[in-house]
Amino acid sequence: MRTVKPLDRRGFLRHSAALSAAVTLGPLGAASRVALSGAAKVKVGLIGCGSVSRHYFAHLARSPLVELASACDILPERARQAADRHKIPHHYPHIDEMLAGAPFDLFVNLTDMQEHERLNEQALQAGKHVWSEKPIANSLAAGQRLLELAREKGVRLWGAPTAVQSPQFAFMARTLAEGKLGRLAAAHASYGHLGPNWAAFFYTKGGGSLPDLGVYNLTTLTGLLGPARAVVAMTGIVTPTRKITGKGEVTVTAEDNAMILMDHGHGVLSHIQSGFNYFTPHEHSSTQQDHHTLTIIGTRGSMSLAGYDWAPHAVDLATREQSRFQRHADARSDYVWENGASLVAECLATGREPLFTPEHALHVVEIMTAANESQRTGQRIPMRSTFKWPLFEDRG
Ligand SMILES: NC(=O)c1ccc[n+]([C@@H]2O[C@H](COP(=O)([O-])OP(=O)(O)OC[C@H]3O[C@@H](n4cnc5c(N)ncnc54)[C@H](O)[C@@H]3O)[C@@H](O)[C@H]2O)c1
Repeated sequence: MRTVKPLDRRGFLRHSAALSAAVTLGPLGAASRVALSGAAKVKVGLIGCGSVSRHYFAHLARSPLVELASACDILPERARQAADRHKIPHHYPHIDEMLAGAPFDLFVNLTDMQEHERLNEQALQAGKHVWSEKPIANSLAAGQRLLELAREKGVRLWGAPTAVQSPQFAFMARTLAEGKLGRLAAAHASYGHLGPNWAAFFYTKGGGSLPDLGVYNLTTLTGLLGPARAVVAMTGIVTPTRKITGKGEVTVTAEDNAMILMDHGHGVLSHIQSGFNYFTPHEHSSTQQDHHTLTIIGTRGSMSLAGYDWAPHAVDLATREQSRFQRHADARSDYVWENGASLVAECLATGREPLFTPEHALHVVEIMTAANESQRTGQRIPMRSTFKWPLFEDRG
């Protein structure tokens, strides 16, 4: 029988030659600067001018390295309005016209979750770099094909979320690496609200609370504890129909209530839960909420994240030496969840690498599809994918 070693400080540090306090973007990588369409700025074409696009457009517009080149939506009025509001010179009602139209470098995909894979593939085929909202593909195999296509075409592919770029994530990763929690044992994270009412895709096949909400906790916990080796899950539907603005009543066919157990190896287990039926006394959209949404426990300490991992504002840490919770990483920072497209534009322009990788995003896609399979079959599902971990800026 194989001996299972506990994940201790030395084991953790072996993976990480150099630790850095400042984790924003990595140093100039081997990938270095990639070919852009000529100008100093990265030209962005954004598809899907719905709810989330308002946050993205505002963030992109503030970046000195970005030029907004075109907007596209199958609801043409939305693309036109976005173009008017943000002074974007071109707008299109279809991806074919967008790709054949005004040139751009980076395709930003903010469409329905079920559309991402198909549209990302089309953009990669056209030689565009891609930033995609989650998920970047509907399955691990399809996502790996997209990554292969990106390599063939000499372009890059990345997907949301960017939670591993926050200073609170950096503090937690560093605290684990320094062994302050002792031998790690368990972690838990939770994220839910009462569900969106503006689009039906959240509730139909390919949608659900996992790819919309659970994806953040899965990214954060695998980012902190390492890739999952196996997954067991249960999912359910609590609310069978939903009223959607402009559509009336739709039948819910994707889970709206999910719980996943992950085995990270070395005896370390974690649990995440997500759902569209969660009353919360905390304002969902506010970054001021102070409740603990994620906790990691070891033999010498425990730490909890205050606020959601997509809008974190502090980490509370208690150890054997300091057994009352002390607050850390609570300084104001410019981290916001909608920074992904701007960050990858910066990477394309400068050659710097972010901490989030497409391999990590695809590992999370595999966990989410495995969760559905585990619910269907009652089985524990082994994971095939992995990603480079731990997530530190490597200055070696
Ligand atoms: N809304 C949020 O607060 C939020 C936050 C983070 C991430 N997200 C993610 O962003 C994505 C979009 O969510 P949303 O809330 O903005 O949805 P939305 O319905 O408000 O917007 C999606 C837009 O995409 C357009 N669209 C769909 N298919 C298209 C296609 N084939 N070609 C062109 N346009 C197309 C729709 O017409 C719509 O305008 C989802 O993956 C969601 O999980 C949303």
